[in-house]
Amino acid sequence: MNDQPFLDSVDTIEFYVGSARHWAYFHRNAMGFNLLGYSGPETGVRDRVSYLMQQGDVKLKFTSFLKPESPIGDHFRIHGDGVRDISLKVDDIDFSVSEINKRGVIRPSNVVDVKGGDGKIRTSSIRTYGETMHTLTDYSDYSGELPPGFEYTDQKGKSVGLRKIDHIVGNVEDRKMDDWANYYIKGLDFKQLISFDDKDISTEYSALRSKVVQYNNRKIIFPINEPALGLKKSQIQEYLDYYNSPGVQHIALLTDNIIQTVSTLKANGVEFLSTPDSYYESLEDRVGKIDEDLEKIRKLDILVDRDNDGYLLQIFTKPIGDRPTFFYEIIQRKGGTSFGKGNFKALFESIEKEQGRRGNL
Ligand code: FE2
Repeated sequence: MNDQPFLDSVDTIEFYVGSARHWAYFHRNAMGFNLLGYSGPETGVRDRVSYLMQQGDVKLKFTSFLKPESPIGDHFRIHGDGVRDISLKVDDIDFSVSEINKRGVIRPSNVVDVKGGDGKIRTSSIRTYGETMHTLTDYSDYSGELPPGFEYTDQKGKSVGLRKIDHIVGNVEDRKMDDWANYYIKGLDFKQLISFDDKDISTEYSALRSKVVQYNNRKIIFPINEPALGLKKSQIQEYLDYYNSPGVQHIALLTDNIIQTVSTLKANGVEFLSTPDSYYESLEDRVGKIDEDLEKIRKLDILVDRDNDGYLLQIFTKPIGDRPTFFYEIIQRKGGTSFGKGNFKALFESIEKEQGRRGNL
């Protein structure tokens, strides 16, 4: 089999939401994204509106529906606001489709040319967990800055320092994690990075299992979670109950200065999970010396974990929409290449506190 990579990187992540205008407003004014483009009736698109946003290399698209009979509306009614498509940039779509077909696990859709004044974008879609899609996207015959159907809206946000996507996590049903890890491994040539069982990730009450798959030296990283049985309901099960299917749980966004990024996000009104005070009492014994001011770390509720390669700092937002489903992680890596296993316990206790307030424990 050909060893040449046939996927490049995560391209745009499209959300189907109830009100795209408000998701765009939040992402510009609270999360610091530029609003790059708009498409809707004014640009000749009759059935939907979309806002395209960017910060660093992170590209997001928020799409909503205009008529009651709409697949976007159906998606919203069932799942609430959530990720529909993690599109993947490819260099040569014909090569990518043929490599995927060769592996015999996934059947990509026929290649479609999306034409505009600046050339054509060539796409083919594959399905992943739940109703989530990966649209393979080839820009090599396209010179435009925005996709066809979009008009330029130069509304800059004030960057909070988000630079790129670190990883994107999917939640799947109990006992389905291995199938979906294999889908990526056998179908798309991903390699398994690590796996956690419920002994690694559990509190007194709730538990989960997780496997991390990556593509081409960690250029694309997809952890996959499944719920595990605990004394009370797993946070993954709560997600599945409200999303009504598997789906994207969180996107981790990389910053080079987490203290500054999180300070700004908090000042902008973004809500984060809190961390119990006890977490910080013995932090230095657990992770050793770190460059950052511990007092600032504690005040901002930032979590720290060390692995063999270095350490990482991370924090998780509360759910972004109305349902307890999708949220963001903000992460800074100081050599650390793992995912914060040492923080799972503190983090879960914080999540369970929120779950309890919702009556879902
Ligand atoms: Fe994460």
